[in-house]
Amino acid sequence: MTALTSPTPIDTSTPRPLKLARMLAPETYTSEAWFQAELREVHYPAWHFACLASTLPESGRFITRRLLNRHVIVIKGQDGVIRAFLNSCRHRGAPLTLAACGTLDKLTCPFHQWTYNTQGELERAPGLGGLLSRNDIPRQSLNLQQLPCEVSHGLVFIHLDPDHTGSLSDFLGNYTSNVARHYRTERMVTVQEKSYSLNTNWKLYVEVDMETLHTNFVHQHSIGSQPVTPVEHSANWFGVFHRHSASPGLLPEKRHLAFPAPEDLSGPACSGTHFCVLLPGFFIVTAPEVMWWIQKTPISATQTQVDVGYAFHEETLERDDFDRIAPLYFQRLDQVIEEDDRITEYQLLGLHNGVRGHYTPVEPVVAHFAELMQQRMGQWIGCYEP
Ligand code: FES
Ligand SMILES: [Fe+2]
Repeated sequence: MTALTSPTPIDTSTPRPLKLARMLAPETYTSEAWFQAELREVHYPAWHFACLASTLPESGRFITRRLLNRHVIVIKGQDGVIRAFLNSCRHRGAPLTLAACGTLDKLTCPFHQWTYNTQGELERAPGLGGLLSRNDIPRQSLNLQQLPCEVSHGLVFIHLDPDHTGSLSDFLGNYTSNVARHYRTERMVTVQEKSYSLNTNWKLYVEVDMETLHTNFVHQHSIGSQPVTPVEHSANWFGVFHRHSASPGLLPEKRHLAFPAPEDLSGPACSGTHFCVLLPGFFIVTAPEVMWWIQKTPISATQTQVDVGYAFHEETLERDDFDRIAPLYFQRLDQVIEEDDRITEYQLLGLHNGVRGHYTPVEPVVAHFAELMQQRMGQWIGCYEP
């Protein structure tokens, strides 16, 4: 796998000239050949969100995730460290578990009972007999295949290349200092998750998340208008900021019922909500009192896996009114996400005709994303540019 180099920063904070920008070529949303190149150049070189650290509170607690064509297990070890492993036994490759989550003292493969501790070390290996204790046996190659795994402000990320040496902090740039730390994401707890697939290209969903032109139309019966401004960013993220006095986590008529924001928020978290994309497709929204994400992972050029999660600060879960108010958040989030699901599937139907579209001056972050894709895809973009 190639290393992901930081793109040339593009200023999205100043207004662009009043002209149309050309959309990415329509084939980049429908071609399987392009998609395979995109996997190599954009998806495999990136860090991927796995879960919140609070999801793995004690040793032995684990989750499994399917990311691209890898199946991964993320587990907290006896030493308190969260690690990620490829979910494949070192005997003959069977998965250790297909459970979505759980708690285990040991990871025992159901096929021939090879057994690993929570730090991925092989402890028992039927069939190997005394060989396991001999010094000339390469023990390292019998332990679970570990993947890079790092935690930043309570967000757990993994890298799918076992040999990747770049740091998460370099990948995220100023996302944690400019956004995550202000919203106290390290105290967030996941309260609801869902996964499904859509008949759309993952880039279309990134694009709809980064423009507000559609909200008056697609979301006219839910959230309506939601003005945003692009934010300063570096490395592998970009985003917009929505300044508000009432939480966008609820439908407009319910916003007076919002949970109070924690008192230790700082900076922009005191006056609004960040809608950000951590490349390639991790859309994360941090509002003062709630956080949600929509992770888009491509399955093919025209199919996308969608993993959605909603989280609140841990102290919010303790409130007497939590069970009464939280469903109002789920109602708003589910409705708006459903509206975006449908419109991105609908948009792809037209792109199959090969007609090239445009971005207007009020969609600068979408145009920025297209420029980033052109940078990343370098040699490949020429195949589709007239
Ligand atoms: S494949 Fe796992 S123990 Fe044989
Ligand atoms: Fe939307």
